[in-house]
Amino acid sequence: MRKSMRKLKSMAMAALLFPLAGCGGGGQQARTIAETEQESADNQVIETIMTRRSIRQYKPQAVDRDTMQIILNCGINAPNGQNKQSWAIRVVDNPEYINGITEVYKKKNPKAAEDPSFKNMFRNAPTVVFIASDKSYDFSQVDCGLLGENMVLSAWSMGIGSCCLGSPTRFMQTEPEAADYLKRLNIPEGYELLYCIAFGYPDEAPAAKPRDAAKIMFVE
Ligand SMILES: Cc1cc2nc3c(=O)[nH]c(=O)nc-3n(C[C@H](O)[C@H](O)[C@H](O)COP(=O)(O)O)c2cc1C
Repeated sequence: MRKSMRKLKSMAMAALLFPLAGCGGGGQQARTIAETEQESADNQVIETIMTRRSIRQYKPQAVDRDTMQIILNCGINAPNGQNKQSWAIRVVDNPEYINGITEVYKKKNPKAAEDPSFKNMFRNAPTVVFIASDKSYDFSQVDCGLLGENMVLSAWSMGIGSCCLGSPTRFMQTEPEAADYLKRLNIPEGYELLYCIAFGYPDEAPAAKPRDAAKIMFVE
């Protein structure tokens, strides 16, 4: 039943899209605003993008590894410069690692742990994906960002929350007491840890943060 509903929905979507795709050469008809709105309301990719929020409170259990594998495969299918795949990806769902480095973090940032909701330095997530970029490739950071966005969005489409994080990896790279944990990631020679993404089953539903549409300009 759900399958046939989905098929009907995608046929309806195709019916909306096909006239535009198929009638190049001057026959293109402008869609009405209502049609465009309906199209985006029915579009699951758009819905996923627009409803995703950074999650900072999670249920305790790690994301199961089969689901993580899907998310990671979506990540490595991101567009990337010259298909160099200039990233290194390390997945940690071991509480010993997460809690151990959090103890180091707490020693250096005692105030953070005073927050009663504080569970760990990765915004309380049970699963963390670390992403390292290739220092020899000038677009590697773009590759790594696109990789991450694919993971974040595929995760959200399956009900898995996430939060991109810069500050924990900065801490790991600058704090000598965290060096053992950085070493355990086994980042390849010539790569450097860029950021990480926290994943887990959400335990909060934050509101959307405002975006500045004035940043966009069509150039004539
Ligand atoms: C490169 C990058 C670094 C970030 N670092 C942190 C961080 O260290 N701590 C944190 O809580 N959120 C971090 N975030 C999440 C942003 O705060 C969040 O995406 C932004 O406020 C917009 O909110 P939204 O994701 O819910 O739309 C980071 C996001 C990005 C893309």
